[in-house]
Amino acid sequence: MSSFHCWLLLLGIGLHHLLFTSAVIVNNHKVGWSRPGDNYNEAIQPEQVHLSWDGDASHMTVTWNTPDRCDSVVQYGLQPDNFTEKQQGGVSKFMDTGDGHRTQYVHRAVMLNLQQRTAYYYRVGNGEVWSKVFNFTSLKDGSDWSPKLAIFGDMGLVNARSMKRLTKDVRLGRLDMIIHVGDFAYDMNEDEGRVGDAFMRMIEPLAAHVPYQTAVGNHEYWANFTQYKNRFSMPGSENGLMYRFAVGPANFVVFSTEFYFWLQFGFLQIRRQYSWLRKELASLNELQTREKAPWIITLGHRPMYSTTTAMTAQSMKVSFGPVFPSYTRILWRSCFMAQAWICAYGPTSTVTNGYGQFTTGKSSTARTWPTPTRTLMRLCT
Ligand SMILES: *[C@@H]1O[C@H](CO)[C@@H](O)[C@H](O)[C@H]1NC(C)=O
Ligand SMILES: *[C@@H]1O[C@H](CO)[C@@H](O)[C@H](O)[C@H]1NC(C)=O
Ligand SMILES: *[C@@H]1O[C@H](CO)[C@@H](O)[C@H](O)[C@H]1NC(C)=O
Repeated sequence: MSSFHCWLLLLGIGLHHLLFTSAVIVNNHKVGWSRPGDNYNEAIQPEQVHLSWDGDASHMTVTWNTPDRCDSVVQYGLQPDNFTEKQQGGVSKFMDTGDGHRTQYVHRAVMLNLQQRTAYYYRVGNGEVWSKVFNFTSLKDGSDWSPKLAIFGDMGLVNARSMKRLTKDVRLGRLDMIIHVGDFAYDMNEDEGRVGDAFMRMIEPLAAHVPYQTAVGNHEYWANFTQYKNRFSMPGSENGLMYRFAVGPANFVVFSTEFYFWLQFGFLQIRRQYSWLRKELASLNELQTREKAPWIITLGHRPMYSTTTAMTAQSMKVSFGPVFPSYTRILWRSCFMAQAWICAYGPTSTVTNGYGQFTTGKSSTARTWPTPTRTLMRLCT
């Protein structure tokens, strides 16, 4: 195995959520409301519409909520007023764990048979009551293209400063995907999940138009991550806590750093994730895979290496360190920028210590390796 094929990047997010929860309200959180579509009926009006992706360019998953139970249908096609395709989805009951047992229904459907890199229009509903019409551009298979990704963590309902820029970038077609690496809404479980609902409405102008991939953060710990598990629809069978997908020249491996910090939810998931990570990383590191997708990018909420917050970094290193050593040869490579653009919103920094870690966002705790990400930021403006 040549070291050329052994690059690993670890993307992590710091935890300085307080920075994000100060008092300025930039976004009115009603901005994202689905305006009622045909046959408006409040009880089954779709809302909180958002996309996610399983790694197959002919698919796009759509998730939405309704107050009452009803059928799940997505209609889609190449024109906004002529939907030629339709898929039936599934619905699950989502009961808040608060005393009020507030209930809503989460619908999930997969749009199939999509042509690659094609603009689609869609709406969701029960077959009679519909959301408004949204659009997205389908993704592309293969590794010979440069996906444009926005990767960040720590975005609240209040003071979501990145929303304006993200919304503009999505509207101008500058992004293929958004990846939100933990800490949503502050917190989604507040007010019996109403804060989560408002947050999901707020991000609808982004998430209904590009896949909104997620990882779990510490602010989702409530009731064993139940808000996170119920609201998002990531690939794999672990409710979005650990999964993998490939986009362009990169394989993304998403995992939960939180299992280690909320031990009341059990040790088995720690073990399960550890063996899963080992297996995934080993198979992604095989030569044929590496030739097709040279980038392995792991995503977790907490950083493993940091110049400060020694506690978190230390625990992470002890917990995960053993999974990574055989891939620790390369730090940053400038060709990363050419192969996949990463737009970092806010100041960014990288700490290197054996292998690359890219800490995004204002909450980053280390500022020792600024150059590569600055260049990336320039590319994105
Ligand atoms: C809708 O699209 C289909 C397939 O492209 C086409 O055959 C049909 O004529 C269109 N209908 C209208 C009303 O535009
Ligand atoms: C949706 O349609 C608008 C208007 O045509 C366009 O500007 C925008 O880029 C499209 N968005 C996507 C994600 O295709
Ligand atoms: C928490 O959820 C995971 C599945 O995501 C499950 O394996 C684990 O047993 C749960 N823990 C508790 C204490 O219920």
